[in-house]
Amino acid sequence: MGKSVDLRVKIGNLSLKNPFLVGSGPTVRDLDQIKAAADSGWAGASVKLAIEPFPYLNFNPRYRWLKQDKIHIFTAEKRLTAKEGLKVVEQARNQISDDFLLIPTITYDGEDYEGWGKLAKQFEDAGAQAIELNMCCPNMSYNLSSTGESTKKSTGASLGNDLACLPIAVKCVTDAVRVPVIVKFSAENPHLPASAYAALTNGAAAVGHNGNWLGIPDIDIKNPDKSIYRLQDQITLGCMSGPFVRPLAMRDTYQLRRGLGPDAVIIGSGGVSNLQTAVQHLMVGASALWICTETMIRGFDWMPKMLEDLVVYMNEMGYESINDISSRLLKNIASANELTVHDGYAYIDPEKCINCGICWKIGHCNAIDHDDKTSYVNKDLCLACSTCVDLCPKKAISMVQTN
Ligand SMILES: Cc1cc2nc3c(=O)[nH]c(=O)nc-3n(C[C@H](O)[C@H](O)[C@H](O)COP(=O)(O)O)c2cc1C
Repeated sequence: MGKSVDLRVKIGNLSLKNPFLVGSGPTVRDLDQIKAAADSGWAGASVKLAIEPFPYLNFNPRYRWLKQDKIHIFTAEKRLTAKEGLKVVEQARNQISDDFLLIPTITYDGEDYEGWGKLAKQFEDAGAQAIELNMCCPNMSYNLSSTGESTKKSTGASLGNDLACLPIAVKCVTDAVRVPVIVKFSAENPHLPASAYAALTNGAAAVGHNGNWLGIPDIDIKNPDKSIYRLQDQITLGCMSGPFVRPLAMRDTYQLRRGLGPDAVIIGSGGVSNLQTAVQHLMVGASALWICTETMIRGFDWMPKMLEDLVVYMNEMGYESINDISSRLLKNIASANELTVHDGYAYIDPEKCINCGICWKIGHCNAIDHDDKTSYVNKDLCLACSTCVDLCPKKAISMVQTN
């Protein structure tokens, strides 16, 4: 047994028992799912988006999990009505212990902004311990404007991008409820730290981003009109999530942390699927994480092992709390003009080289040649870029540092 470590994370006056929230999405839209997440030790659930007035865009879900490219993508999705969302929160609050946080995700799409506050208050009265404002969904007005449709009003991602309107909506909510308010922005927000700052200065307790990017999935070039979605006719811009978006998502979290400073509570999201990816995302600035795609693919019951592994890892590294991990790398991420680049060259081990020829083809390098037994590097021509190390199927190439 190692030393005990503190996994808790504070959001305003709330304490998450660990940094892992089920991100709003199709795995937290009903009571049984939320119970399953609670039973597996998750800290809480950002309950599936509830929209009022309803419907906005609302279709039965059509998803693709493009395993090879590690992309999850979708456009069609079913949202909850406010009534459905309130019922789920009420039922869950009555049946699940308080240390599992219920954080409904809401969007108000009426003409006024006061409606945001009224909707949030209804969810607070139903037992929500925090309220999450969806200023992130790309499949609302953002998708419409991206495909040339006109929209009356900004919702989801477009509202979060709108520095004039988002503070009004946030303030209406923070004035209306006592529980902490979390604002979730789009990863595509062109001024993410500024939007997040506006939310915090209007009373939000935490901010975060969804990690999602709109993309165009594969097209069958022999049958270009056909959609890759099953049981859906059209090709659409789709909301990408999962491992593919992870480097972009970590960059967003990092930029939020840099922009907002050490005290802001920042929730990161995008492609977290295991201990390694979770710790990395915490290290670049997240205080906590929303995880969605991995729960669609693997359910919830991998969390107990992940928590166990996290404690072992923290003991090994001498970290006593999540705070010791969070932002650990902030000061290590250098600007492009601050690099220390060592001289050196690639070396090919003749014992391991099978002369397969893959490294001979590298387009930006003239340094690799071969005889009939092995390949070798001309040190004077080697740029020391290290692409050959990554390409070698036999791990025969390594870098030699000369200064
Ligand atoms: C099918 C699907 C539905 C989602 N629905 C919502 C939603 O209703 N509200 C929301 O704030 N985020 C929603 N998200 C975003 C996720 O909560 C999460 O932030 C994002 O997908 C990145 O994390 P991941 O790579 O772990 O999925 C959805 C994601 C997916 C894949």
